[in-house]
Amino acid sequence: MQRLSESSIRPLIVRRSPSGLRGTINVPGDKSISHRALMFAALAQGRTVINGLLEGEDVLRTADAMRALGATISRDGSDWVVEGRGVGQLREPDDVLDMGNSGTGARLLSGILSSHPFNSVMTGDASLRSRPMRRVTAPLAENGACFVTRRDERLPMAIVGAGAAKPLNYRLPVASAQVKSAILLAGLNADGETRVEEPVATRDHTENMLRHFGVPVRVETTTDGGRVIFLQGPAHLTARDVIVPGDPSSAAFPIVAALLLPQSDIVIRGIGLNPLRTGLLTTLRDMGGDLRLENERIEGGEPVGDLHVRGSDLRCVDVPADRAPSMIDEYPVLAVACSFANGTSRLRGLAELRVKESDRLAATVALLEANGVVVRVEGDDMLIDGLGAGQVPGGGKVATRMDHRLAMSAIVLGLAARQPVDVDDTAFIDTSFPDFIGLMNKLGANLGGTADAS
Ligand code: S3P
Repeated sequence: MQRLSESSIRPLIVRRSPSGLRGTINVPGDKSISHRALMFAALAQGRTVINGLLEGEDVLRTADAMRALGATISRDGSDWVVEGRGVGQLREPDDVLDMGNSGTGARLLSGILSSHPFNSVMTGDASLRSRPMRRVTAPLAENGACFVTRRDERLPMAIVGAGAAKPLNYRLPVASAQVKSAILLAGLNADGETRVEEPVATRDHTENMLRHFGVPVRVETTTDGGRVIFLQGPAHLTARDVIVPGDPSSAAFPIVAALLLPQSDIVIRGIGLNPLRTGLLTTLRDMGGDLRLENERIEGGEPVGDLHVRGSDLRCVDVPADRAPSMIDEYPVLAVACSFANGTSRLRGLAELRVKESDRLAATVALLEANGVVVRVEGDDMLIDGLGAGQVPGGGKVATRMDHRLAMSAIVLGLAARQPVDVDDTAFIDTSFPDFIGLMNKLGANLGGTADAS
């Protein structure tokens, strides 16, 4: 795959797709699980075969980083094969680790590097270099590691790993699976018990996959719905094959597009249904979306199923703040769905959207306003005045701000709006969903015209 560069801009004009979407697709592998599979396999002793790995730019950066730290990683047909080094056995990288656009790659790797006794330097693209790292550097520095960052704890940063890392005991100030995972990963090579408390349960792929690799992880539920996770270090990971389910966060885009286009009837096979990831499905059902799960099963330790989606008239919704962690990446496309619903929707508790690949709260407001939708922010809530099925004017120019999910949300809006939508750059879609446009076209979307060709 051609590597993403900040100079290769791919604009797109998106036109309404009146006949709807039809057909059956698979979405690419889950991004969160793919990053973890490569990292854990590199920390395991032995050979891990990963099936269904997301071959998106973010995950390929993690593969490069784990190679630079001494793991052997190769592609074998559709599988990826990792020869791990073992916890504590990674080697000092001889160049800067460039994590591209990926906050998950950067935060999780910081945890690993903090408890390995060598020096490293990490950077990323302009989007990642603007994102806060204090949320991981502050707790991780307590284990004996030292981080030297730019102003406001931004990348690039130098990491002096702890010689003999101390285990951490930390209560997360924000609901973040990345921070939780960074602390657990640091704990693998610390001597003693690591304890992380999260006020609201966030995606638990790290806990699940650590168990899969043979590490006992204990989880207690608190009375107010939070969780405490315990891990004993130093830990030993034994290589185990991994099957990566389809990414529910990527599936969100064809799901919403199909709901918004009246004649649609699609099936998305093999979507991950981890209950800490399915807030969007709950919300779209609350809105009256015709979503039917079929063939539910367990694959590689995670629940998966096939999702049947039909075009639906949507009504407005009030999404509670405590649902945010289970759908944190889905708000831009949910906001698009709300624009086509009847009535005013309220999406609560969106503070974390401000520190994603872009300020997604501001960027989503701009996306809707540019296309004739009335939207406002009250504190951390977003309110959207839905115009009803097929009634969003469109015709706007959308700035996607190096944010893959913004670009895909803009495309979904354009497929259902009355006037064509001009998307400034679709290149960053490659970070999580490289064949998005091809798959949408397979379903009948007819995407293809560039801004220049229009
Ligand atoms: C992720 C956690 C979430 C999510 C990101 C992936 C993960 O970030 O937005 O896309 O794989 O742990 P936060 O932990 O910052 O909420």
